[in-house]
Formats: sequence, C-alpha cells, structure tokens
Amino acid sequence: MQGEGIRCLKLFHASIVVVLILLQYCNLSLSLEFNNISSGEAGHKHIAKVLKVIRCIEREREALLAIKQDLVDDYNSLSSWGSEAQKQDCCASWIGVYCDEYTGHVVKLDLSGGYFLGGRISSQVGNLTHLQYFDFNGNDFNNVENLNSWLPRLSSLTYLDLSYNNLSNVPDWLEIVSKLPKLTNLTLIGCGLSSPAIHSSTLFNINSSKSLAHVDLSFNQLTSSIFLWLSNFSTSLVQLGLSRNNFTGSLPDVFGNMSSLAYLDLSHNQIEGGIPQSFSELCSLQALLFRNNILSIQLSKLVQTLMSTCPDKNSLETLSLSNNSLSESIPNLKNFSSLKKLDLYDNQLSGTMPENIGHMSTLETIRLGMNALEGVVSESHFSNLSRLIILDLSSTSLALDFNSNWVPPFQLVSIYLGFCKMGPHFPKWLKTQKSYLDLDISNAGISDVLPSWFWGTLHHDHEINSIDISNNRIRGIIPNSRFEFTSSSPPDVNLSWNQLEGSIPSFLSKASSLDLSNNKLSGPISFLCPKTPNEVSTLYFLDLSSNNLYEKLPNCWTHFENLVILDLSDNSILGKIPTTMGFLSSIQTLKLNNNRFVGELPSSLNNCTSLIVFDVGENKLSGFIPEWLGVGLPNLAILILRSNHFYGSIPSQLCNMRGIQILDFSMNNISGSIPKCLDNLTNLAQKGSSSLTLNHTYNVTLIGKWAYYEDESSLIWKGIMSKYKSTLGLVKSIHLSSNRLTGEIPSEITNLVGLVSLNLSRNNLTGQITPKIGKLQSLDLFDLSNNQIHGTIPTSLFGISGLGKLDLSNNNLSGKIPMGSQLQTYEPSVFAGNPLLCGIPLEQMCSPEETTPEEQPVENQDEDNDEFITLGLYVSLGLGFIIGFWGVCGSLIFIRSWRYTYYKFLNSVYDWLYVRVALIRRRRMIDG
Ligand SMILES: *[C@@H]1O[C@H](CO)[C@@H](O)[C@H](O)[C@H]1NC(C)=O
Ligand SMILES: *[C@@H]1O[C@H](CO)[C@@H](O)[C@H](O)[C@H]1NC(C)=O
Ligand SMILES: *[C@@H]1O[C@H](CO)[C@@H](O)[C@H](O)[C@H]1NC(C)=O
Ligand SMILES: *[C@@H]1O[C@H](CO)[C@@H](O)[C@H](O)[C@H]1NC(C)=O
Ligand SMILES: *[C@@H]1O[C@H](CO)[C@@H](O)[C@H](O)[C@H]1NC(C)=O
Ligand SMILES: *[C@@H]1O[C@H](CO)[C@@H](O)[C@H](O)[C@H]1NC(C)=O
Repeated sequence: MQGEGIRCLKLFHASIVVVLILLQYCNLSLSLEFNNISSGEAGHKHIAKVLKVIRCIEREREALLAIKQDLVDDYNSLSSWGSEAQKQDCCASWIGVYCDEYTGHVVKLDLSGGYFLGGRISSQVGNLTHLQYFDFNGNDFNNVENLNSWLPRLSSLTYLDLSYNNLSNVPDWLEIVSKLPKLTNLTLIGCGLSSPAIHSSTLFNINSSKSLAHVDLSFNQLTSSIFLWLSNFSTSLVQLGLSRNNFTGSLPDVFGNMSSLAYLDLSHNQIEGGIPQSFSELCSLQALLFRNNILSIQLSKLVQTLMSTCPDKNSLETLSLSNNSLSESIPNLKNFSSLKKLDLYDNQLSGTMPENIGHMSTLETIRLGMNALEGVVSESHFSNLSRLIILDLSSTSLALDFNSNWVPPFQLVSIYLGFCKMGPHFPKWLKTQKSYLDLDISNAGISDVLPSWFWGTLHHDHEINSIDISNNRIRGIIPNSRFEFTSSSPPDVNLSWNQLEGSIPSFLSKASSLDLSNNKLSGPISFLCPKTPNEVSTLYFLDLSSNNLYEKLPNCWTHFENLVILDLSDNSILGKIPTTMGFLSSIQTLKLNNNRFVGELPSSLNNCTSLIVFDVGENKLSGFIPEWLGVGLPNLAILILRSNHFYGSIPSQLCNMRGIQILDFSMNNISGSIPKCLDNLTNLAQKGSSSLTLNHTYNVTLIGKWAYYEDESSLIWKGIMSKYKSTLGLVKSIHLSSNRLTGEIPSEITNLVGLVSLNLSRNNLTGQITPKIGKLQSLDLFDLSNNQIHGTIPTSLFGISGLGKLDLSNNNLSGKIPMGSQLQTYEPSVFAGNPLLCGIPLEQMCSPEETTPEEQPVENQDEDNDEFITLGLYVSLGLGFIIGFWGVCGSLIFIRSWRYTYYKFLNSVYDWLYVRVALIRRRRMIDG
C-alpha cells in the first residue's frame, strides 16, 4: 500500500516535471501558482485546473492561425501566434488572446491600437463562437465587407470595437450589429459609416435583445436616421457618443424615453435651433456635450428645458455648449448642484457673469471666453470655488477687479484671461497660483513692471505648457530666476509686444517656442547657447525681432537642429553671419533683415535645405550673389537681399528656384543683364495662388505637437515699406530696382504671367518694352522708371486691366502715348522725363504724323479680366488694411486674427491628427 503510494507520488512528480516543461513559456502568474501546487493537498485540484486552463481548443487555435494568415503584419506584432511546438497553447502566450479559465474557449480577442495590422479580417473569426470581447480598434483593415459572414456567429459578444477600420463598404453594418443579442458596448469610431436607409420592417423585427448600453459612433457620416435605430435601445442606453457626424437641422424628439442616459455627446455636428423638450426627461444625465454646433436659442430657455421635469438636476456634471450661437445672459445655474464643468466658450452670451456662480462649489472648469460678457468680475464670483482648476474668461469685455491682497480659494491649472481687462496693475493674485500649466494674460491692458516674483512662484520641477503675457505694456527687466523649465516638456513663452528691457536670462532658452519680439531687450544673444557640447536646444521657434540687440551673433548654432523659425530682424546685430547657421537643418524661415550684418553669406547656409523664407535685407552684406541659392534651397519661396552691398551679376542658377514667389534684390550694386532663363521660375509663371497667406505647418517631434506659422514679410510696395501677412500668399514679385543692371529686359520675363509686381527701376536697362508685356495680366505694379528704355509704349500695356501703379518716367521713350482704358487714371508724372513722348496726359501734343504703332495681337489678352481685377484689388486691399491699421491698433487686431486662424486651423487638422497621434502614442507605449 505504502509502496504503491510512493510510486504514485513519484508519477505525480514526474507529471509535474512534464507540465513544467510544457509551461515554460507561460507567464509568471502561472509559475507562481505552480509553487503553490507542491504545497499539499489543495495542489491536486489546482493542478487539474491549470492543466485544463492551458489547453487551447484546437478548432479555435486553427481559426486564430487562419486569422493571422489573412492579416498583414508588417511589424511582426503577432509573432507569438504560431504552430510551432512551444507555441501550441494559444491561451497562454498568444498576445491579445484570452481564454475562459474553466472552459478554455477564447473569450477575448484584443488587438487594439498600435499593432498596425492590415489586410482583411478572416471570416474564421466566426469560429470563435464563445467570444465575448472583440477589439480590433485602430488597425488598418479596409476589407471588412465580409462582416456579415462572421460577426452574427459571435452570439455571445458583449463588447465590439472596430474603430478606425474602414467599414464604408459595409452598407448593412447596422443590421449585422443588430443581430448580436448580448451586445452592450459598441464602439465604431471613425469607420466611415453612413446612415443606412432604415426599413422599419427589417430592422425592428431583428431578434436582438435591447441590451446596448455604451455606444460610440463618433467620427462618421451618420445622419438623423440613426436616431430611429437608437430609439430601440432607449431603456438600456447609458452612454451615447455621436460627435463629428453629419447631423443637421434640429434634433428629433427621441431622447425622452432614454431614462438611463447619463452621457450624451453630439459635439461637432451642424445641429441647429434648440434642444427638444424631451431632453427634460433625461433625469440621469451626467454629461451633455454639444460643442461646435449651431444651437441658437437663449441659454436660459435651454437650461429651463433641461430642468423642467427634474428640477434638481443634481446628476449633471458636465455642460459643454461651446462654439454655438447661444444668446442673451447666463441664467442662474444653482440647481445644477453637482456641476463640475461649465463650458459656454464662444457663443453670443451677453450681460454679466452671474455672481452666484461663486457658490457652485463643485465647479472645476469655467469656460466663458469668446462671449460678449461685460461688467466687473470680483472676488465674490469665486468665493466658494475651491476646486476650480480651469478658468477661461478670455476675449470678453469682462473687467477683473480684485482686491490687491486677494487670496483665491483655488489653485488653477489653466488660466486663460487674454483680452480681458485686468490692468493697469500686474495681477497680484497670480502670485498665489503655484501649479498652473497654462497662463494667458495677453492683451489685458496691464501697464506695470513685471514683478520679480513672476517666475519664482512656480514650483521647481513644475511643468509648464505655455505662458503668454504679450501685448501689454509690461516694463522692467525679465527677472533672472533659479527656476528652470523642465526639459521633458519645454513650454511656449510669449512676452512679445511689451516694453521689457535689459538682457535676456538664459533659462528662457530652455523653452520650445520663445517670442520676445517688439520689446526693448538688449545685451548678448549668447544666452541661447547651451552650456554643454552635446546639448540639443529645445527651441523650434525663436523670435527676437524688433528689440535693441546689438552684439554679434554667437557661433553656437550647431545645437539648434530643431529650430524651424528664427526671426532676428529689426535689431542692430553686428558682425558676420556665423557659419554654424548652416547646421540649422530644420530651419524654414530665417529672417536676419534690418541689422548690421557684414561680410558674405556663408556658403554653409546651402545645407539649410528646408528654407522657405530667407530674408537678409537691409544689412551691410557684400560679395557676389551666391550660386548655391538656386541650387541648394529647392523650397525657397521668398528671397530678399534688398539694400545690401551685393555685386556681380545675377547667376543663372537662380532660375532653378521653381517655388520662388518673391525675389527682391533691389538696392545693391548688381550689374550685368537680367538672365533670360527667368521664365524657369515656375511659381511666378503661374497665375494666382492657392493660399492667401504663406504658412507652414510643421511637426515638432521633440514635444510631439504640431505648430503653425504664418510668414510676414516687409516689402516696399508703391514706395512704402509695408508688412505683409494676411495677403502675403498673393504677392508674386520681382524687384531689381536701384542696381546697375544693363542690357535689354529679356522678353522671356513676359512668361511670368503670375507676377503681381515687377520693379526694374533705377538701373541702366536699355532696349524697348516688348509688345508682349500685355501677357502679364496679373500685374498691379510695373515700374521701369529711371532707365534708358527707348521706343514707343506698347498699346498692350494698357490692356492690363488691374495695373494700379505704372511708372515709365525718366527713360528715352518716344512717340504717342497709346489711348487705353486705364489711361485717364495716370498722372503725367508716370511719363515724365521722356522728352520725345507726346499726347495725353502730357502737355506736349503730338504732331499729326505721330500715330500709335501697329501691334501684333497678344494671346490671352482679355481672358478673364475680372479675375485679375480681383487679385490686384485683393492685394491692394490687404495692403490698405495693413497700412491703415498697423500703426493705430494693428497689433491687437493682428494677433487676434492670427489666433482665429490658428484655432480654425487646429479644428480642421484636429480630426485626422487626433487619430494619428493616438495611434503613435499607443505604438510608442508598446515599443517601450
Ligand atoms: C497560494 O495559495 C493561497 C491559498 O489559495 C493563496 O492565498 C496564496 O496567495 C497563494 N500563493 C501564491 C504565491 O500564489
Ligand atoms: C470555420 O469557419 C469556416 C467558415 O468561415 C468553416 O468553413 C470552417 O469549417 C470552420 N472551421 C471549423 C474547424 O469549424
Ligand atoms: C463598456 O463601456 C463603458 C463606458 O465606456 C465602460 O465603462 C465599460 O467598462 C465597458 N465594458 C467593457 C466590458 O469593457
Ligand atoms: C530651364 O528649364 C529647362 C527645362 O526645364 C532646362 O532644360 C534648363 O536647363 C533650365 N535653365 C536653367 C538656366 O536652369
Ligand atoms: C515629422 O518630422 C519628422 C522629422 O522631424 C519627419 O521625419 C516626419 O516624417 C514628420 N512627420 C510627418 C507626419 O510629417
Ligand atoms: C549708366 O550708363 C551711363 C552711360 O551709359 C553711365 O554714365 C552711368 O554711370 C551708368 N549708371 C550706372 C548706375 O551704372
């Protein structure tokens, strides 16, 4: 008996060893359980259980392998799935596969996000008949039209997520999904779904239980007919996400019966009017998100609707109605006694901010910005708001008037008070805020000294996203601080348009975006240079323009591989352009204009192959115009060498600049002739422009975000130096005036039909004006004055209907001035200094034999005249706007419109970006 027992025990141990070998690929928890097994009686049962657990059901394993076979798995994410001996157990070691502990059936398949699988989903999925949870979110399947062959077989499914897979070729998706009797969670975000035509007969007879509770169908093209289907689940629905679809018109009255609905998101649609009365029945509602629609009723009426059935809406925690057209004043919201988030940003609300908001002690977020609110906001508006972390009152007419020693009850994380009235004193209560991530008090009428505590209040290892105190009249020095930005999340810092002076403390160089433009800062620029040889600067945007910087540039640009925008214009910077600027490998806009740079352009700059805007105008640079400008910088759109001492001739290599839009070499000592190959400048040879502005979007990989920049350029237009930004995209010009150019104007220039401005004045050009000049139908400015052009004025010149400014004075032109439609608008000065010219508007009459010369017809001459009038007008209007407003209230309006553009832009890229960024994040997490 005893021997038997021992043999039995030995056998048992031997089997344990076998199991051990079998289990060597299992995870830690299993081996831990194993340790427990050897400890006595209970182990026997346990091991039986373990033995059962590891057996993956053959049929399901084959189905999984077939699924893998149909997938495109470029990253080999599913390497743990295989038929090799050590991979036999699909339950134990296959990534994303989970089995039932007792039955061994695969119950969960989670291949969400980050695997980047493609190909098709095999219909063998249908063999995993015990599947309860199926998540293929974020892959790239676009062949899911076989959905009907496998999904209905998964009758145990409670959770289905196929987000970001393309289901646009599955028109009957709704019917298929409706066949799953136990489904509770349905997530089909960004699947290209459109509303199927709902036939009540087919749809409502489906043998589906009404179990759906959590539905997210955002980012699709659904229309209101989906509500009809959803009303089937009115008693079970808890969560309903329908943002970013195509809902238009007013909402149907289907929500009344959704007694369990807690979360409703209809943001980013085009829903208009108000919300239906049936919303009053939603007494369990916790979150109502209606951002970015066109709701247009009075806010008080909307609140009344929400409250009418359940007057104490104490479940509501989130009310998000931003970016609508809600009007009139903000009503009393005190019955929302659990409200945490009140978001009414960007509506047409007027009146004051109600004082009783200060008693809603549950509030964490208040966003009332971008409304026509007015009146004074004081301490009492915040008296009990100890949980407040986000406050946005920006772009309102609210005046913030706090007692100077007010200690707010809150610690804010986000402070958006730009375009409020906060001044004239620097808000002292900010000193109590020690943990904010974002601070915007720009354009707030602050006229005070920057307090020495400004950076010091922040905790040392504190992360900051953004600080914007621009467009005030803040004086004094930027206090140096022991405070350092954390290198893992360098912030955006904007102190521009103030009256700051003194030198720039070096801790600011650790920002990612630094705008100190339009101040009175002086001192060395070497604050930028990293202290250690291998340190890479975090800056991607640096604007120090319009200050009093007068020292030399440091030669440390090898550290700035991330820098995309560098603007040092309008200072008094001395010395040579450092050769290390050639290491700015990401640079797209480089503006060094209006300084005192001397010497030649360093040839290393031809490594800056991403350059789009290169402006070194108004300096004392000399040397030949480098040939590499045309060879090494293929993306160049703006090249300005204006007002320097460059000499020699224009190299023909410059004709390679196919993207060039503005070429300004005026006011140098350039000689020789104008190259004939100019017609190779393809951008100038095309009419019109795809964009009003010259802008670039660039990804800042360093901090994982996208930035947007609109270029601004100073140009001399009709004799006035003007800043161009809002219409810069339309300006196509060649300015070569005030040089020593000789020879004829090459007739090839008339192929540059996109030219809006051609200024060749003040040279020694000879020859005649080609009759083909009429081809330049986009011209708004044409200046040939002060040359030695002879011959007659071609009639075709007056066929250019948009020509606003013409100057032919001081040449040797002769003969009769042709009669043209525009003629009467020109002053005599346009033709002055040409002794042999005669006719209107000059006083000198023509003798009878002087007639207008015969001309060959010019092609394209009167095609689409209106278009060009519009273009010319557009540019002039844009210019008028800039000249008119720049001095008066320019900066305010400018910055503001820039913001609008920025946010509008953000909205449009947000959609696909959101998806991509989410995917990249997940992928990173997996890689890591
Ligand atoms: C061993 O089993 C006991 C009882 O089942 C349990 O409380 C303990 O956590 C287990 N230990 C390990 C290491 O799994
Ligand atoms: C799996 O499903 C397919 C149809 O999709 C079927 O042809 C096949 O026989 C099934 N396999 C098993 C093992 O049941
Ligand atoms: C279903 O969705 C809800 C809300 O998103 C979530 O809380 C719940 O955990 C989900 N159910 C499952 C099984 O994941
Ligand atoms: C101008 O373009 C033509 C055709 O694209 C090319 O053959 C020629 O070399 C170019 N000329 C110059 C000077 O770049
Ligand atoms: C982002 O920038 C990096 C280089 O900085 C580039 O390689 C990558 O392609 C960019 N990504 C996108 C989506 O443009
Ligand atoms: C232009 O040419 C004339 C003679 O042809 C010469 O006297 C004059 O100096 C030249 N001007 C310039 C700026 O080169």
